[in-house]
Amino acid sequence: MLQARDIEVRFGGLVAVDGVGFDVERNQIVSIIGPNGAGKTTLFAVLAGFQKPTRGTVTLDGEVLTGLPAHQVAHRGIARTFQIVRPFRDLSALDNVIVGAYAKARTYRAAVDEASAVLDEVGLYAKRDFLAAYLTLPDLKLLEVAKALATRPKYLLLDEVMSGLNLKEQHEVAKMLETIHSRGTGILLVEHSLAIVQRMSDRVICLDSGRKIAEGTAEAVMNSEAVQVAYMGVDHA
Ligand SMILES: Nc1ncnc2c1ncn2[C@@H]1O[C@H](COP(=O)(O)OP(=O)(O)O)[C@@H](O)[C@H]1O
Ligand SMILES: [Mg+2]
Repeated sequence: MLQARDIEVRFGGLVAVDGVGFDVERNQIVSIIGPNGAGKTTLFAVLAGFQKPTRGTVTLDGEVLTGLPAHQVAHRGIARTFQIVRPFRDLSALDNVIVGAYAKARTYRAAVDEASAVLDEVGLYAKRDFLAAYLTLPDLKLLEVAKALATRPKYLLLDEVMSGLNLKEQHEVAKMLETIHSRGTGILLVEHSLAIVQRMSDRVICLDSGRKIAEGTAEAVMNSEAVQVAYMGVDHA
């Protein structure tokens, strides 16, 4: 189980994440929604060891992760994708994923095999020799997922992997992620597409100005007045 307790991140005077806590089990898909600037990406950065919180703890199966560097957090089983895709543009899709696979693989051959298997899982195997510079946006999003998956994480943190995709492409990616999930990977999803959030989530957490303002089923959270005011801009006053 992945647990966050009372996470706070301050950037100078700004409180980007303000006392947020939650649990995610590996058999769950949990979505984090909220308006731009709510603190979603910062929270992911904390979970993955890229950002040290000013307060609070992250534990994975009882082991405290807070304070560990990102590569050690990755080694223990948490992988994230980046909202802004940043592949090595001059490397092939396969080589980009091999870089991720080295987190676990011991030999070059093992890394190649692992990277090939992961590219197959996300549906990019046929394009394995394409330079990343020549991949389309939907394919670059899949490559981000593949890079993260290549570390064979217990939990996969996906930051807006569907953005820029049309609805059909979004549902194709959702299906692929559901398959990965069914094979035993817990998923945390930051996603703006409410159709996708509704389709995929066992539970939804809504952040606003760094605070958790709602948690529950997709239906309950989207119907909550606090969420409608903060996130959907509906004025109940
Ligand atoms: N490295 C940083 N330094 C200063 N402020 C930051 C930094 N990263 C994020 N912020 C601020 O923290 C808040 C939350 O940002 P972010 O986590 O990116 O929100 P979201 O992903 O929900 O849009 C925003 O006000 C943002 O400007
Ligand atoms: Mg963000």
